[in-house]
Amino acid sequence: MIVTREEIKSRLQARGGEQQELFSHARQARDKAQGNRLNIRGVIELSNSCVENCQYCAMRRDNHALNRYILDEATVLSVAGDIINAGIPTVFLQSGESPKCGQLLERIIPEIYTRYHCSIILCAGKRDAETYARYKDAGAEGYILKFETANPALYEDATGASHQERLSCIRGIRAAGMKLGTGSIVGLPNQTLEDIVDDILLAAHFAPDFVSVAPFIPNSGTPYETVPKGDIDLTLNTMAIWRILFPAALIPTVSALEYIHPDGQAAGLSAGANVITINFTPKQSRDKYAIYAKDRFVVSLEHAHKTAEKAGMPLHVV
Ligand code: 5AD
Repeated sequence: MIVTREEIKSRLQARGGEQQELFSHARQARDKAQGNRLNIRGVIELSNSCVENCQYCAMRRDNHALNRYILDEATVLSVAGDIINAGIPTVFLQSGESPKCGQLLERIIPEIYTRYHCSIILCAGKRDAETYARYKDAGAEGYILKFETANPALYEDATGASHQERLSCIRGIRAAGMKLGTGSIVGLPNQTLEDIVDDILLAAHFAPDFVSVAPFIPNSGTPYETVPKGDIDLTLNTMAIWRILFPAALIPTVSALEYIHPDGQAAGLSAGANVITINFTPKQSRDKYAIYAKDRFVVSLEHAHKTAEKAGMPLHVV
């Protein structure tokens, strides 16, 4: 069992044989609770406009070099159809935080839901609890809003926004009765091992349905472009500890893992993850969705099949 701060801290530092043992416990917890199938989401990145100004993200409002886009309703509906036709049961709508995109979501969620009766999950930034409730009523099942870091000072340095407000939005998702996804970034400037222990415990406080961690990626054109990238072992160990703490949660193996390491996403699965997200954003917009890097790793269905095979997990296509 991993319960105390000291135990979490020691597991975070596991390497070699100890790390393999941690991963093996994580896989056992996953397989016992959910089986070893690899769940798939199809993501559509609706817009790269954002009112926030996070130091690590190229979609920050002060990045005037980025061409902004928002997909139109017909495109979103048609791409959602492509996701369903590919046998993928979950349509994942992601976007920068913008009022325009908020309005698009209100129009598009009921259309997708009435047409496909599929699972719809969202990741589109901070909204008030009433807005989350409207998304839920319209057919959205879950909402992902990472707390990024449990350390308020680090959060405020990295985003210029209030940590309290972020946490209150996360509570708003729960209050709206939605499935809650949250998580953190490993490798923010000045982040300590103790901070990462706090990230693990803060997630536990929210008891999330989905939980994810990504290594920090220095993104060109952002104030953090010269900060070193996040450590892959700390990222994988965080995933494994979360898996042991939350056997029933969905834990994605994020594309940033593949970006910093060949077979990084297969490594995420071996650390206990069980979701992979396929990118369905139309090519000309996808290139502008520079969330962690201009040349970010774009996950295809073919790559998901290969990754599933490497991890010995059957890909769940319906
Ligand atoms: N490195 C790692 N993760 C990032 N995100 C945004 N930019 C970066 C980056 N440079 C993550 C944040 C955000 C999610 C949508 O993407 O955690 O919540």
